[in-house]
Amino acid sequence: MKILVTGGAGFIGSHIAETYLEDGHEVVIVDDLSMGKLQNVPNGARFENLDVNSDEFVQFIFNEHFDVINHHAAHMELRVSVEKPVHDASVNIIGSLRLLEAARRSGVQHVILASTTAVLGEFVDLPATEDHPVRPIAPYGVSKRAMELYAEYERLVHGLSVTILRYTNVYGPRQNPNGESGVIAIFLEKFLQGAIPTIHGDGLQERDYLHVYDVACANRAALIARPQGIYHVCSDSKASVNEVVDMLRETLGTDSKVVYGPAKAGDPARTRGSHKAFTEATQWRPSTSLKEGIQETAKWFQAK
Ligand SMILES: NC(=O)c1ccc[n+]([C@@H]2O[C@H](COP(=O)([O-])OP(=O)(O)OC[C@H]3O[C@@H](n4cnc5c(N)ncnc54)[C@H](O)[C@@H]3O)[C@@H](O)[C@H]2O)c1
Repeated sequence: MKILVTGGAGFIGSHIAETYLEDGHEVVIVDDLSMGKLQNVPNGARFENLDVNSDEFVQFIFNEHFDVINHHAAHMELRVSVEKPVHDASVNIIGSLRLLEAARRSGVQHVILASTTAVLGEFVDLPATEDHPVRPIAPYGVSKRAMELYAEYERLVHGLSVTILRYTNVYGPRQNPNGESGVIAIFLEKFLQGAIPTIHGDGLQERDYLHVYDVACANRAALIARPQGIYHVCSDSKASVNEVVDMLRETLGTDSKVVYGPAKAGDPARTRGSHKAFTEATQWRPSTSLKEGIQETAKWFQAK
């Protein structure tokens, strides 16, 4: 199949592109390199530097006749989304809407979209299933929810085949340690540099951490089974930020210090999702424990 992976020079998109290449697909990557890096583009993929929120990108979709589009390009810095919600919306809503319309009009067979459990806001029922209330508490969650609604409109009204994957907290090799999300990458980088990282809040906030290898496998499963609508892709396990820090210290053999600072706006107290529906639809399930995943990620950061 000829597959477009947007955001394929970024963290998650580059792993998906690699998985699709391994499976023998023709992979084209579109990324504007605002956060991604050319060195993340896997060998064998074609790269185009384009903004998803542009007429050139829409024309590109029409010219290339893709079988499938996997959309991972996004603005995803939560704090920046609070400061610059218009920028966040222009990429995540308008860019995604342009892609969806062009996909339908150009005859794309299937679209896979990256969403996030940030659309839920505060988690009230854990582990959160797909019918959990949706009340985003930051512009990033609002824009991703709008993307989901446009995708559901394209699917239900126009018959476009769409899978929407809501991830929890993804970590692993190639995650940007200079972003503001991704506590494992940020803390690994700081510990290895001998710097002191800041925990926002008391460190008791619980997260559902999912290794990027498992996310790439979920995108392979979504390509094969093409389940329709919204699915939670998560590990259905929990660890506090303080526990993650302890695992990182153990893995690196260090007793490095951390400091505690104010909690971040728009950061929920607990996140944990249920992948039951996605597992039933595709047979996918996460296979990397947090301990193994941290060890493997630490090796990559040490080698970098
Ligand atoms: N990392 C996580 O924990 C996580 C959790 C839930 C959902 N997601 C979603 O997964 C997707 C990928 O996230 P990631 O962690 O790999 O982030 P990332 O920043 O590494 O990847 C996003 C890529 O999109 C590119 N991009 C941004 N704006 C663009 C534009 N206008 N046109 C073209 N390219 C553009 C960036 O350069 C970057 O390479 C995003 O949609 C994000 O919302 C990530």
